[in-house]
Amino acid sequence: MRKVFHPVARAEDVPPGTGIPIKVGDDPNCALFRTSDGEFFASTSLCPHQNEALDQGRLEGCEVICRRHHLRFDLRTGDCTNAGGYWLRMMEVRRTGDHIEVGIWEYDDDPRSA
Ligand code: FES
Repeated sequence: MRKVFHPVARAEDVPPGTGIPIKVGDDPNCALFRTSDGEFFASTSLCPHQNEALDQGRLEGCEVICRRHHLRFDLRTGDCTNAGGYWLRMMEVRRTGDHIEVGIWEYDDDPRSA
């Protein structure tokens, strides 16, 4: 396996304190967040509680708050901070100039990557 970084957005596409829906590889259900401090995080976009779109959630510091039932997720870890048993799958983010890239593990022999 190897980690492959996919370009997902330009930095200017994500104003500080917001999130946007993104597609990473074949997965269309991902989200990119930019905190008010300018840090970028990427995760699955569907809330693990009842599938609300987390890119529509509210950011407070490094937490995204789901708009439906207000579960809070720490974007540094993916952990839910106000209920047990929920977490987000987080992905590595890197910035190359103005471009934001998200890394996911892919099989070397995946015929889709040929
Ligand atoms: S759907 Fe997100 S907290 Fe319920």
